[in-house]
Amino acid sequence: MQIIRTVAELRRWSRAARQSGQSVGLIPTMGALHEGHLSLVRAAKAGCRAVAVSIFVNPTQFGPNEDFSTYPRTWDADCALLEAVGVDVVFAPPSEEIYRPGARTFVEVEGLSDRLDGASRPVHFRGVATVVAKLFIAAEPDCAYFGQKDAAQVAVLRRMTADLDLPVELVVSPIVREADGLALSSRNRYLSADERRQALVLSGALNAVQAAIDSGERRADALIGVALASFAAEPAIKVDYIALVDWTTLEPAELAVPGTLFAVAAWVGATRLIDNFIVG
Ligand code: PAJ
Repeated sequence: MQIIRTVAELRRWSRAARQSGQSVGLIPTMGALHEGHLSLVRAAKAGCRAVAVSIFVNPTQFGPNEDFSTYPRTWDADCALLEAVGVDVVFAPPSEEIYRPGARTFVEVEGLSDRLDGASRPVHFRGVATVVAKLFIAAEPDCAYFGQKDAAQVAVLRRMTADLDLPVELVVSPIVREADGLALSSRNRYLSADERRQALVLSGALNAVQAAIDSGERRADALIGVALASFAAEPAIKVDYIALVDWTTLEPAELAVPGTLFAVAAWVGATRLIDNFIVG
């Protein structure tokens, strides 16, 4: 497994792979890897001959009072996991390689960037779109792999890729969960034992909403009410949003029709967690 630190070297590797007839897959990550990330690597290995994972804790997607400085950085463990699943390249640039001194250019996906997570994290999606665009331009992948866990991020990146005619196919993988239902997240390691138990209310609320849909309820207001009732059982948890939206535009949907996104975000102590499902 090769460790690459510069954009120029990553591009050289990708072009050489392509020239020898190999398709290139890229999995952008911020490290602190878990089974959710590894599921994306496996999807990439199944779809592409040459696979690169980027590990970069992207400063521009964190707000001033967010957890950039404390975000878990677990380099040795990450490399061991990636080596074991057969990744070809880890791209781990220093910050100055991505944000050169004097850089003034950002990618802004208007409208979508203000919705769901973007509503409470104003600079977040601008930072995500900018870094992912830069990674796509650097790595020139045929396919890039993302998790449905960050469903609003997927909508923003699909819009960006289409609007900028970037020649990359986005592949989205299902949410990987703990046995008890909690969606895997690098931030789960912030949770105390008590918070870890409380955090189950997110997947529990989604299960209750799914059950309501299965029994015929389709109205957004009623479904959001079902989720709110689940959250009421854990008063220590502060809901950020509960929303039924169109997965392409992230605009509110009135009815749960196939393809709409039901998403929740909540503060468990100082940790903000998200979860969702796509209406079947
Ligand atoms: P990060 O949070 O490290 O996530 C990297 C990828 O792993 C994302 O596509 C995310 O949706 C996926 N992922 C996380 N948890 C998952 C789970 N439980 N099941 C399936 N997939 C999961 O998302 C980011 O990093 C950053 O915003 C990034 C795109 C790298 C830009 O900086």
